[in-house]
Amino acid sequence: MRPAGTSAGAGDVGTSAASAGAATLHGTGMRASGTRNEILRADLLAGFDPSDLAGRFGTPLYVYDLDVVDRQVDLLRAVLPASFDLAYALKANPSLAVVAHLGRRGLGADIASAGELATALRARIRPEAIVFTGPGKRDPELSLAVERGVRAVTVESPAELERLEQIAAAAGRRVPVLLRAAVSDPARHEAVRLIGDEGAGKFGMDRSDLRAAARRAARSEHLDLLGLHAFGASNVRDAGVLAGHVAATVALAVEVVGQAGVPLRLVDAGGGLGIPYEPGEEPLDLVELGAQLAAQAARWEREEATRRLRVLLEPGRFLVGPAGAYLARVVDRKTVDGIPVAILDGGVHHLLRPALVGQEHRVHLFGSASTAGEAGPLTIAGPLCSGLDVFSRRTVAAPPQVGDVVAVLDAGAYGFTEAMPFFLSHPIPAEVVVRAGQAELVRPRLEPGAWLAWQRDPGL
Ligand SMILES: Cc1ncc(COP(=O)(O)O)c(C=O)c1O
Repeated sequence: MRPAGTSAGAGDVGTSAASAGAATLHGTGMRASGTRNEILRADLLAGFDPSDLAGRFGTPLYVYDLDVVDRQVDLLRAVLPASFDLAYALKANPSLAVVAHLGRRGLGADIASAGELATALRARIRPEAIVFTGPGKRDPELSLAVERGVRAVTVESPAELERLEQIAAAAGRRVPVLLRAAVSDPARHEAVRLIGDEGAGKFGMDRSDLRAAARRAARSEHLDLLGLHAFGASNVRDAGVLAGHVAATVALAVEVVGQAGVPLRLVDAGGGLGIPYEPGEEPLDLVELGAQLAAQAARWEREEATRRLRVLLEPGRFLVGPAGAYLARVVDRKTVDGIPVAILDGGVHHLLRPALVGQEHRVHLFGSASTAGEAGPLTIAGPLCSGLDVFSRRTVAAPPQVGDVVAVLDAGAYGFTEAMPFFLSHPIPAEVVVRAGQAELVRPRLEPGAWLAWQRDPGL
């Protein structure tokens, strides 16, 4: 499928804008975020007229622009010190085409289940570039990770460490481990705490368990203690908070791993790099983040304990969020209490985040809406029998017509994968990727008949 317009279409515009952004990183020191790198450019989606995409692939539909993903990778890599590695957090968007693309760009993978491990391996990401993190890992999952030889298993609890040791011993292996630190300590993570520490109480180990686990791992024949892991908070757009979290995690790792008597080789500071969702939100200042991390990396090089340290970041949202859009068509319109309402053929069952975290995504209207009627506040909602199924109450635009296509933006991360697609038995949307002016279906639309066919009525 060819993109709309001429060769000076949105793809080209985006490419030049991004390279300009990347150039300024090294040159003037301007913010990398000067130009927003996203799927919507010049009223097109990834260079395509959204009606063409909707017509060819049907609605609702997920579209991911791999050129935008590439530019996010480039922008981040341009500011990271040489001692940093990137592992893409599959949980943000485990679509095989997206994961494989990031694998081809040389990223590793952060996985949280055997299913994600299978996806990463099918995407041809080498096991030595895969880290396995997350609570509640089951024995067969740990066995698989040991067998495949992943870069590290991040251990979440003393009991998990014991199970992993037994599994590695039974397999005659020595498994590389990171120990996950809980980040609820207010002294260490004050800034992170202020913006909402999601980790408190569930993830990782507190200091005393962490120290005991480090000693145990250091003594074990079957565990190779590399260092620590800590995830600060999600969607952080404050460079100082992110850099502070990295510094605090490295300092803790030096202390805990050093006391256990083994060299510190790896610190995984998790993901959490944020993106703006609402109009007017400031993007993450990558230049500032890079400068703060570079200063830290220079200090680590001077210290014996950290000279050989590698630091891993596991971003998900930052890499893929702005690259995705959820497309739906208007099926009904009306006015309720004086406010125009557009009802779409898709809703929060496919993109739960607005309902889950109470934050609106930007909604862009295409088609007749831009030319007809007077602009005013609009309610844009889905077809579910639930008051939560509203994408936007803040969009200001002329009311769209039935049949118009609407795009919910920043839907590339925690979209399809975080959905509840069976609710109300509507079709499950297809996924399409676009790269260099080519649009390809990567997951077909699933009709309700498909999952009806999986079921049976035993007639009890
Ligand atoms: C352990 C871990 N790593 C990485 C991520 C990715 O985070 P983000 O998408 O905010 O970068 C998450 C998200 O929950 C996580 O739990």
